Amino acid sequence: MAYETIVVDVENHIATIKLNRPDALNALNVQLLGELAKALGELDRNEKIRCIILTGSAKAFAAGADIKEMSEKSFVDMFLLDFFGGEAEAITRTRKPVIAAVSGYALGGGCELAMMCDFIIAADTAKFGQPEINLGIVAGMGGTQRLTRLVGKSKSMDMHLTGRFMDAEEAERAGLVSRVVPAKKLMEEARTAAEKVAEKSMLTAKAVKEAVNRSYETTLSEGLLYERRMFHAMFATEDQNEGMSAFADKRSPQFRDR
Ligand code: HXC
Repeated sequence: MAYETIVVDVENHIATIKLNRPDALNALNVQLLGELAKALGELDRNEKIRCIILTGSAKAFAAGADIKEMSEKSFVDMFLLDFFGGEAEAITRTRKPVIAAVSGYALGGGCELAMMCDFIIAADTAKFGQPEINLGIVAGMGGTQRLTRLVGKSKSMDMHLTGRFMDAEEAERAGLVSRVVPAKKLMEEARTAAEKVAEKSMLTAKAVKEAVNRSYETTLSEGLLYERRMFHAMFATEDQNEGMSAFADKRSPQFRDR
Protein backbone atom coordinates (compact mmCIF):
# COMPACT_ATOMS: atom_id res chain seq x y z
CA MET A 1 0.00 0.00 0.00
CA ALA A 2 1.46 3.39 -1.00
CA TYR A 3 1.27 6.21 1.51
CA GLU A 4 2.56 9.75 1.18
CA THR A 5 3.20 10.78 4.77
CA ILE A 6 4.36 7.48 6.28
CA VAL A 7 6.63 4.68 5.10
CA VAL A 8 5.71 1.13 6.01
CA ASP A 9 8.42 -1.47 5.92
CA VAL A 10 7.85 -5.13 6.68
CA GLU A 11 10.66 -7.50 7.54
CA ASN A 12 9.85 -11.00 8.74
CA HIS A 13 7.09 -10.59 11.33
CA ILE A 14 7.81 -6.99 12.19
CA ALA A 15 6.35 -3.90 10.56
CA THR A 16 8.03 -0.54 10.98
CA ILE A 17 6.00 2.58 10.33
CA LYS A 18 8.12 5.71 9.85
CA LEU A 19 6.43 9.08 10.05
CA ASN A 20 7.61 10.89 6.96
CA ARG A 21 7.04 14.64 6.77
CA PRO A 22 10.70 15.66 7.21
CA ASP A 23 10.16 19.30 6.18
CA ALA A 24 7.70 19.79 9.03
CA LEU A 25 9.47 17.67 11.65
CA ASN A 26 6.75 15.05 11.12
CA ALA A 27 3.99 17.39 12.24
CA LEU A 28 0.75 15.44 12.39
CA ASN A 29 -1.85 16.54 9.87
CA VAL A 30 -5.16 15.03 8.84
CA GLN A 31 -3.55 13.07 6.02
CA LEU A 32 -0.76 11.61 8.17
CA LEU A 33 -3.00 10.49 11.00
CA GLY A 34 -5.51 9.08 8.50
CA GLU A 35 -2.78 7.11 6.76
CA LEU A 36 -1.36 5.96 10.08
CA ALA A 37 -4.74 4.74 11.29
CA LYS A 38 -5.29 2.92 8.00
CA ALA A 39 -1.83 1.31 8.02
CA LEU A 40 -2.22 0.14 11.63
CA GLY A 41 -5.62 -1.34 10.81
CA GLU A 42 -4.16 -3.25 7.86
CA LEU A 43 -1.15 -4.48 9.83
CA ASP A 44 -3.43 -5.53 12.68
CA ARG A 45 -5.39 -7.70 10.25
CA ASN A 46 -2.29 -9.10 8.53
CA GLU A 47 -1.61 -12.48 10.14
CA LYS A 48 2.07 -12.40 9.25
CA ILE A 49 2.72 -9.31 11.38
CA ARG A 50 3.42 -9.94 15.06
CA CYS A 51 4.72 -6.59 16.29
CA ILE A 52 4.74 -3.01 15.02
CA ILE A 53 7.35 -0.29 15.56
CA LEU A 54 6.32 3.33 15.17
CA THR A 55 9.14 5.79 14.64
CA GLY A 56 10.10 9.14 13.16
CA SER A 57 13.40 10.71 12.12
CA ALA A 58 16.56 11.32 14.12
CA LYS A 59 15.49 14.94 14.73
CA ALA A 60 11.80 14.40 15.43
CA PHE A 61 9.44 11.60 16.26
CA ALA A 62 6.78 14.26 15.69
CA ALA A 63 6.82 17.95 16.68
CA GLY A 64 3.10 18.00 17.33
CA ALA A 65 -0.05 18.54 15.38
CA ASP A 66 0.48 20.62 12.25
CA ILE A 67 0.14 24.18 13.52
CA LYS A 68 -0.14 25.59 9.99
CA GLU A 69 -3.05 23.28 9.21
CA MET A 70 -4.83 24.09 12.47
CA SER A 71 -4.25 27.84 12.65
CA GLU A 72 -7.18 28.98 10.47
CA LYS A 73 -9.71 26.57 11.90
CA SER A 74 -12.70 27.66 13.96
CA PHE A 75 -14.39 25.87 16.84
CA VAL A 76 -17.09 24.73 14.43
CA ASP A 77 -14.49 23.29 12.01
CA MET A 78 -12.74 21.43 14.81
CA PHE A 79 -15.98 20.16 16.33
CA LEU A 80 -17.47 18.99 13.05
CA LEU A 81 -14.24 17.21 12.11
CA ASP A 82 -13.95 15.92 15.70
CA PHE A 83 -10.34 16.87 15.03
CA PHE A 84 -8.17 13.75 15.37
CA GLY A 85 -10.76 12.03 17.58
CA GLY A 86 -11.57 9.29 15.07
CA GLU A 87 -7.94 8.79 14.05
CA ALA A 88 -6.76 8.62 17.66
CA GLU A 89 -9.43 6.06 18.50
CA ALA A 90 -8.48 3.97 15.48
CA ILE A 91 -4.80 4.06 16.47
CA THR A 92 -5.48 2.96 20.04
CA ARG A 93 -7.73 0.13 18.80
CA THR A 94 -4.66 -1.72 17.44
CA ARG A 95 -4.62 -5.10 19.18
CA LYS A 96 -1.09 -6.11 18.24
CA PRO A 97 1.79 -4.75 20.29
CA VAL A 98 3.03 -1.36 19.08
CA ILE A 99 6.40 -0.02 20.25
CA ALA A 100 7.25 3.66 19.86
CA ALA A 101 10.92 4.29 19.01
CA VAL A 102 11.41 7.96 19.78
CA SER A 103 14.36 10.09 18.73
CA GLY A 104 14.41 13.89 18.94
CA TYR A 105 11.23 15.88 19.49
CA ALA A 106 8.03 14.22 20.66
CA LEU A 107 5.95 17.29 21.38
CA GLY A 108 2.25 17.94 21.78
CA GLY A 109 0.45 15.47 19.52
CA GLY A 110 3.81 13.74 18.98
CA CYS A 111 4.13 12.99 22.69
CA GLU A 112 0.47 11.98 22.75
CA LEU A 113 0.98 9.63 19.81
CA ALA A 114 3.97 8.00 21.51
CA MET A 115 1.84 7.53 24.63
CA MET A 116 -0.83 5.76 22.57
CA CYS A 117 1.75 3.04 21.84
CA ASP A 118 2.23 0.14 24.24
CA PHE A 119 5.64 1.22 25.36
CA ILE A 120 8.23 3.79 24.43
CA ILE A 121 11.92 3.19 23.79
CA ALA A 122 13.69 6.54 23.71
CA ALA A 123 16.97 7.60 22.16
CA ASP A 124 19.14 9.65 24.52
CA THR A 125 18.34 12.60 22.24
CA ALA A 126 14.58 12.38 22.82
CA LYS A 127 12.69 15.40 24.12
CA PHE A 128 9.12 15.12 25.28
CA GLY A 129 6.76 18.00 25.90
CA GLN A 130 3.21 19.28 25.91
CA PRO A 131 3.86 22.88 24.81
CA GLU A 132 0.32 23.56 23.57
CA ILE A 133 -0.11 26.26 26.20
CA ASN A 134 2.38 28.40 24.23
CA LEU A 135 -0.09 28.35 21.33
CA GLY A 136 -3.07 29.25 23.50
CA ILE A 137 -4.56 25.75 23.38
CA VAL A 138 -4.65 22.67 25.57
CA ALA A 139 -3.56 19.17 24.57
CA GLY A 140 -6.19 17.41 22.45
CA MET A 141 -5.08 13.83 21.86
CA GLY A 142 -4.74 12.56 25.39
CA GLY A 143 -1.89 14.58 26.92
CA THR A 144 -3.71 15.82 29.99
CA GLN A 145 -5.02 12.31 30.67
CA ARG A 146 -2.31 9.87 29.60
CA LEU A 147 0.69 11.92 30.74
CA THR A 148 -0.96 12.45 34.13
CA ARG A 149 -1.57 8.73 34.55
CA LEU A 150 1.98 7.93 33.48
CA VAL A 151 4.01 10.51 35.42
CA GLY A 152 1.58 11.78 38.07
CA LYS A 153 -0.20 15.08 38.54
CA SER A 154 2.71 17.25 39.61
CA LYS A 155 5.02 16.55 36.68
CA SER A 156 2.13 16.49 34.22
CA MET A 157 0.95 19.90 35.43
CA ASP A 158 4.53 21.16 35.22
CA MET A 159 4.83 19.99 31.59
CA HIS A 160 1.43 21.34 30.54
CA LEU A 161 1.63 24.65 32.41
CA THR A 162 5.24 25.60 31.65
CA GLY A 163 5.43 23.95 28.24
CA ARG A 164 8.98 22.84 29.04
CA PHE A 165 10.60 19.80 27.45
CA MET A 166 11.66 16.68 29.36
CA ASP A 167 14.80 14.89 28.23
CA ALA A 168 15.04 11.13 27.85
CA GLU A 169 16.65 10.57 31.22
CA GLU A 170 13.93 12.47 33.06
CA ALA A 171 11.29 10.68 30.99
CA GLU A 172 12.68 7.32 32.04
CA ARG A 173 12.86 8.36 35.70
CA ALA A 174 9.28 9.56 35.52
CA GLY A 175 8.01 6.33 33.96
CA LEU A 176 7.05 7.83 30.61
CA VAL A 177 9.51 5.64 28.70
CA SER A 178 10.53 2.07 29.36
CA ARG A 179 14.20 2.44 28.39
CA VAL A 180 16.73 4.91 27.01
CA VAL A 181 19.36 3.86 24.49
CA PRO A 182 22.10 5.65 22.55
CA ALA A 183 20.55 7.35 19.50
CA LYS A 184 22.59 5.25 17.08
CA LYS A 185 21.22 2.07 18.61
CA LEU A 186 17.57 3.09 18.74
CA MET A 187 16.24 1.09 15.82
CA GLU A 188 18.39 -1.92 16.64
CA GLU A 189 17.05 -1.95 20.22
CA ALA A 190 13.47 -1.42 19.05
CA ARG A 191 13.83 -4.26 16.60
CA THR A 192 15.33 -6.58 19.21
CA ALA A 193 12.43 -5.77 21.54
CA ALA A 194 9.93 -6.31 18.71
CA GLU A 195 11.52 -9.67 17.86
CA LYS A 196 11.22 -10.72 21.51
CA VAL A 197 7.53 -9.80 21.46
CA ALA A 198 7.02 -11.46 18.07
CA GLU A 199 8.25 -14.83 19.30
CA LYS A 200 5.56 -14.99 21.99
CA SER A 201 2.03 -16.28 21.46
CA MET A 202 0.05 -13.51 19.73
CA LEU A 203 -2.99 -14.76 21.59
CA THR A 204 -1.26 -14.19 24.92
CA ALA A 205 0.23 -10.86 23.82
CA LYS A 206 -3.23 -9.56 22.92
CA ALA A 207 -4.53 -10.75 26.29
CA VAL A 208 -1.67 -8.95 28.05
CA LYS A 209 -2.52 -5.72 26.21
CA GLU A 210 -6.18 -5.97 27.15
CA ALA A 211 -5.41 -6.63 30.78
CA VAL A 212 -2.80 -3.87 31.19
CA ASN A 213 -4.97 -1.36 29.36
CA ARG A 214 -7.90 -2.29 31.61
CA SER A 215 -5.96 -0.77 34.51
CA TYR A 216 -6.59 2.66 33.02
CA GLU A 217 -10.31 2.10 32.65
CA THR A 218 -11.49 0.56 35.87
CA THR A 219 -11.15 0.21 39.63
CA LEU A 220 -8.43 -1.95 41.20
CA SER A 221 -10.84 -4.68 42.31
CA GLU A 222 -12.53 -4.85 38.88
CA GLY A 223 -9.13 -4.80 37.18
CA LEU A 224 -7.85 -7.61 39.39
CA LEU A 225 -10.94 -9.67 38.64
CA TYR A 226 -10.54 -8.99 34.91
CA GLU A 227 -6.91 -10.09 35.10
CA ARG A 228 -7.73 -13.23 37.07
CA ARG A 229 -10.45 -14.28 34.64
CA MET A 230 -8.09 -13.60 31.72
CA PHE A 231 -5.48 -15.72 33.50
CA HIS A 232 -8.05 -18.52 33.95
CA ALA A 233 -9.05 -18.22 30.28
CA MET A 234 -5.47 -18.86 29.19
CA PHE A 235 -5.92 -22.42 30.47
CA ALA A 236 -8.32 -23.03 27.59
CA THR A 237 -5.55 -22.36 25.06
CA GLU A 238 -3.11 -24.68 23.32
CA ASP A 239 -0.37 -22.13 23.87
CA GLN A 240 -0.64 -22.48 27.66
CA ASN A 241 -0.21 -26.20 27.26
CA GLU A 242 2.72 -25.72 24.87
CA GLY A 243 4.39 -23.07 27.06
CA MET A 244 4.27 -25.21 30.19
CA SER A 245 5.20 -28.44 28.38
CA ALA A 246 8.19 -26.71 26.78
CA PHE A 247 9.31 -25.52 30.20
CA ALA A 248 9.11 -29.07 31.58
CA ASP A 249 10.94 -30.46 28.50
CA LYS A 250 13.62 -27.74 28.73
CA ARG A 251 13.01 -26.60 25.13
CA SER A 252 11.75 -23.42 23.46
CA PRO A 253 7.98 -23.22 23.08
CA GLN A 254 6.45 -23.35 19.60
CA PHE A 255 3.39 -21.14 19.97
CA ARG A 256 0.63 -21.41 17.40
CA ASP A 257 -1.63 -18.57 18.58
CA ARG A 258 -4.31 -21.08 19.45
C1 HXC B 1 3.82 22.65 11.65
C2 HXC B 1 6.06 22.58 12.19
C3 HXC B 1 5.75 22.11 13.49
C4 HXC B 1 4.37 21.92 13.82
C5 HXC B 1 7.89 22.30 13.33
N1 HXC B 1 7.38 22.68 12.14
N2 HXC B 1 6.92 21.95 14.18
N3 HXC B 1 5.09 22.83 11.29
N4 HXC B 1 3.44 22.19 12.87
N5 HXC B 1 3.99 21.42 15.01
C6 HXC B 1 8.11 23.15 10.95
C7 HXC B 1 8.64 24.57 11.14
O1 HXC B 1 7.63 25.51 10.86
C8 HXC B 1 9.76 24.58 10.11
O2 HXC B 1 9.20 24.75 8.83
C9 HXC B 1 10.30 23.16 10.17
O3 HXC B 1 9.27 22.35 10.74
C10 HXC B 1 11.54 23.03 11.05
O4 HXC B 1 11.22 23.57 12.33
P1 HXC B 1 12.09 24.70 13.06
O5 HXC B 1 11.19 25.38 14.03
O6 HXC B 1 12.78 25.55 12.07
O7 HXC B 1 13.17 23.80 13.80
P2 HXC B 1 13.92 24.12 15.15
O8 HXC B 1 14.37 25.54 15.20
O9 HXC B 1 14.96 23.07 15.28
O10 HXC B 1 12.84 23.94 16.32
C11 HXC B 1 12.27 22.68 16.56
C12 HXC B 1 11.01 22.79 17.50
C13 HXC B 1 10.04 23.86 16.90
C14 HXC B 1 11.47 23.22 18.89
C15 HXC B 1 10.38 21.43 17.56
O11 HXC B 1 9.84 23.55 15.52
C16 HXC B 1 8.73 23.90 17.59
O12 HXC B 1 8.61 24.46 18.68
N6 HXC B 1 7.68 23.34 16.94
C17 HXC B 1 6.33 23.43 17.46
C18 HXC B 1 6.14 22.48 18.62
C19 HXC B 1 4.71 22.55 19.17
O13 HXC B 1 4.28 23.62 19.63
N7 HXC B 1 4.00 21.44 19.16
C20 HXC B 1 2.63 21.37 19.63
C21 HXC B 1 1.69 21.63 18.49
S1 HXC B 1 -0.02 21.64 19.04
P3 HXC B 1 9.73 25.89 7.82
O14 HXC B 1 8.78 25.80 6.66
O15 HXC B 1 9.71 27.17 8.56
O16 HXC B 1 11.11 25.43 7.49
C22 HXC B 1 -0.44 20.04 19.20
C23 HXC B 1 -1.88 19.77 19.61
C24 HXC B 1 -2.22 18.33 19.58
O17 HXC B 1 0.34 19.19 19.00
C25 HXC B 1 -3.70 18.08 19.67
C26 HXC B 1 -4.26 17.37 18.48
C27 HXC B 1 -5.74 17.07 18.55
